[in-house]
Amino acid sequence: MKAGRARLVAGNWKMHGSLAANQRLLVALKGSLKPVSGLDYAICAPFPYLAQLSDTLAGSGIVWGAQTISEHDVGAYTGEVSGPMIREFGCRYAIVGHSERRQLYGEGDAAVAAKFMAAQRNGLTPILCVGETLEQRERGDTEAVVGRQLDAVLNLAGVAALRSAVLAYEPVWAIGTGKTASAAQAQAVHQFLRERVAKQDGEIAAGLTLLYGGSVKPGNAVELFAQPDVDGGLIGGAALVAEDFVAICKAAESLA
Ligand code: 13P
Repeated sequence: MKAGRARLVAGNWKMHGSLAANQRLLVALKGSLKPVSGLDYAICAPFPYLAQLSDTLAGSGIVWGAQTISEHDVGAYTGEVSGPMIREFGCRYAIVGHSERRQLYGEGDAAVAAKFMAAQRNGLTPILCVGETLEQRERGDTEAVVGRQLDAVLNLAGVAALRSAVLAYEPVWAIGTGKTASAAQAQAVHQFLRERVAKQDGEIAAGLTLLYGGSVKPGNAVELFAQPDVDGGLIGGAALVAEDFVAICKAAESLA
């Protein structure tokens, strides 16, 4: 983490939750997490719970967001949810290009870039996820893969769009597996990504918030977040357990 850069710890609930369980979790988080300057806490929940997040978290210092977004703003797109709709629930963020969307729902780089644009067009900050599979890492293709995923957005949106975006490195092999990238592995990819942006604009690269995601837990958060190019985390499983998510947020706080 570097002083002066905006930091973020975001929970991604994925397809988990119920009104009752969410309420318990949110009340516990609200009781434990107080606003810290330069550090945001966020929860990205399934669409049906965005109204609950808005009702429960308003004014708390914890912000919220969606896990994906349609690339279209309105129209005959059955089952999709648009930026203007998400925005009405007070969301700050929309995740785009999560590896589960890429792998399970066939979202390619072009679709991800279009969703990134849709988020920004509607006043949402996209959290753009990039990451390689284990096979790609073992082949030595990590930089080529994350570079291509980043370039798809840079080419469509332009580097200036990264002024109001967050980039998340989530190695696919570390998501939900209990295998975390080592702090050195995370730092190496984060540095690569920042340098790639810096080739187009050094100031934007220096200010870009870069999250690590993939089996972040209370026990490894401090070491990961202490890396110079890691500005926080995107948290899956541990975001479903109040004490774990709070402990991860406190780890970020301790490095402020
Ligand atoms: P886990 O923290 O469960 O590995 O999930 C990471 C993730 O995919 C967050 O978006």
